[in-house]
Amino acid sequence: MDHTNWLDTVMTAAVAAPSGDNLQPWRFAVDSTAQKLRMEACCARDPSPMNAGNTMARVSLGAVLMNVLLCHLANGRPLPEVNQSGGIVEIAGINGSARPGRVPEAILNRQTNRLLYYAGQVSAGEVDRLLGDYIDAFAVYCHVVGTVDSHDTTLVITQPGRIAELAEVVARADETLFTHRAARQAFLEAIRKAEADGDRPARVGLPIGTLGLGWHDRLAMRAVLRMRDTWLDLIGFARQVAARTRRLVRSADLLWFHFVRDWEPATDFMLGASAQAFWISTTLQHLACQPMMSLAVLQSMARHGFIGAAEVEPVWEMLERVLPEAKGYRVGFVFRVGAAPTPPVRTGRLPWRELLSVQELDTGAPTRATAPASIRPEVPLLSTDGHVVSVTKKGL
Ligand SMILES: Cc1cc2nc3c(=O)[nH]c(=O)nc-3n(C[C@H](O)[C@H](O)[C@H](O)COP(=O)(O)O)c2cc1C
Repeated sequence: MDHTNWLDTVMTAAVAAPSGDNLQPWRFAVDSTAQKLRMEACCARDPSPMNAGNTMARVSLGAVLMNVLLCHLANGRPLPEVNQSGGIVEIAGINGSARPGRVPEAILNRQTNRLLYYAGQVSAGEVDRLLGDYIDAFAVYCHVVGTVDSHDTTLVITQPGRIAELAEVVARADETLFTHRAARQAFLEAIRKAEADGDRPARVGLPIGTLGLGWHDRLAMRAVLRMRDTWLDLIGFARQVAARTRRLVRSADLLWFHFVRDWEPATDFMLGASAQAFWISTTLQHLACQPMMSLAVLQSMARHGFIGAAEVEPVWEMLERVLPEAKGYRVGFVFRVGAAPTPPVRTGRLPWRELLSVQELDTGAPTRATAPASIRPEVPLLSTDGHVVSVTKKGL
């Protein structure tokens, strides 16, 4: 793709980032005189319970930021200075009219793969390379932004027995989430949004073709989209989703959990950047990857009063039984990873120019969220299965 200038290149990379239900809950403002790009998580674009407290929107914005940084790196440009304040990220040193560059293929090719994976196909060597790539990519973020002091922990699970146990936990979380009417309607609305584009490529939302369903389930999904909500209880929609989730998780060779301690916006950005670094690394290794975020979403919904503690408590008890390491943590991001064919349909994006805010976004000067970065060697990335990894790169 040809870009008109550097801003066009950077923004094309930015909006290729993932977001919950592909709602792209972000907006941008460019100050060309000061050479600054500002971005903000925009809850109006994702008012769903899954985005309670705008948490998932901020996580997505972290992925946007990661893309911008990797785009700079790939084009040999100096890494820009990044400041964060509340829900706003400001990137300095973006000379928008400078000559265009190229967006790294891995950013453009990254995709959510919701197909069943071929269990048992990912070698230990591939896992090592994946984690190595992840550390390299995430180190770029740590280098520019500084690590957020949230005592985060990353678990990499590769033992089939543990993956099977965790499949039960994620399935239970999905069942709880899809029993919640407002949550499941928000998910179905994201599909309707994409399908409303008819034969034109959808610009926002989830086209049915991206759900990884066979023809039978695709037909069933079309019927579900037209059903009254009470019917979804009658047909056991949540249970069916959970049954599929169980099979999907069991088909994976690796589960990746990023746990954090707090709910600060800077932690959300960091989570998104970390997840995107990991996801791009799976793309580089030609591995399939899918976020399985119901645990994280339920926790956020409970925190913001969208769902009762009694409904989610059994899910936590189950998680802590299978994964005692999770005790006391907030589930930040969860992926399943494996080998699989490339999904046939891709999600679309809104053109970035439509996401530019006319008004200035900010009300005050953003301040740095943490001390200027040197990469803290002790960023704790911990594995239960023999993969113990840590970010140790310095001086990128
Ligand atoms: C914060 C966040 C949460 C997500 N949660 C899920 C999820 O629970 N299940 C899923 O299949 N995809 C999930 N996704 C993936 C998005 O649906 C996907 O990124 C979006 O539809 C764009 O498609 P793409 O990733 O193929 O570009 C999530 C993505 C983000 C950023």
